[in-house]
Amino acid sequence: MKTTENTIFISGGSAGIGLAIAQKFSALGNKVIINGRNTERLEKALAKLSNAVAIQGDLSVEADRIRIAEDLKANHPDVNMIINNAGAAFGYLLSETTNAHKKAEIEMNTNYLAIIHFTELMLPHLLTKDVAAIVNVSSLAVFGSHKFLPTYGATKAALHSYTVALRMTYEDTKNLQVYEIYPPLVNTAFSAEIGGENGIPPEEVADEFLIALENNQFEVPVGETKKYAAAVAEAISKIS
Ligand SMILES: NC(=O)c1ccc[n+]([C@@H]2O[C@H](COP(=O)([O-])OP(=O)(O)OC[C@H]3O[C@@H](n4cnc5c(N)ncnc54)[C@H](OP(=O)(O)O)[C@@H]3O)[C@@H](O)[C@H]2O)c1
Repeated sequence: MKTTENTIFISGGSAGIGLAIAQKFSALGNKVIINGRNTERLEKALAKLSNAVAIQGDLSVEADRIRIAEDLKANHPDVNMIINNAGAAFGYLLSETTNAHKKAEIEMNTNYLAIIHFTELMLPHLLTKDVAAIVNVSSLAVFGSHKFLPTYGATKAALHSYTVALRMTYEDTKNLQVYEIYPPLVNTAFSAEIGGENGIPPEEVADEFLIALENNQFEVPVGETKKYAAAVAEAISKIS
């Protein structure tokens, strides 16, 4: 898919990986629409972008998802790519909490159910475009558990499963591509509790995604995730 002249909505585009992707696309002459909950953060991010606007809203809230989708279709009808990047994670130990189910509920709502709903809201519009893409940001956590993120991994594994099913559903629809980006540990505020300072810079995730987009490579494992993705692919090839 071309990396220029798109109109791209990025959830969680005001910081971290989302902002790094927004900056790359903005520099390449795409129109970028960033989203986040905090207005001040959005304004600071807009100052780093050209040809960009912001839509404030909390994608974990159903009414906000509906409002944002309506805003996009009415005011930015050229939108041909959505990047479902905003996510939630709680860093904690199962032995030190009594409400893991509540944390899991928030994580599952934000990282899985909200993305399914927002995608449903935007799909009919995207299908009217000559070329369109849905991009879901999952994680290295798809491939295993982490003691300090005990209820997060399952939400990203669920998102992965949905993303593959979505791609299969539309594989004969030539104008819709479905991408999945699997970041490893990335140095952002999100990962501060789990040693994120040792992670790769968010710009590396953005660079890898742009290369994948140019090559129509729908699975985008980044950095350390590549060896896990390769091992799983090899194991599956031996069965089939
Ligand atoms: N960092 C890592 O090590 C890592 C590794 C693998 C996968 N990931 C995934 O990458 C994605 C981005 O993470 P990041 O590290 O870039 O995080 P980040 O630096 O904390 O940035 C998160 C962005 O999402 C926004 N956001 C959070 N919740 C939102 C919501 N409910 N609705 C709308 N916007 C929301 C934030 O702005 P507001 O707070 O103002 O809303 C901010 O713009 C997440 O899905 C995460 O699971 C991260």
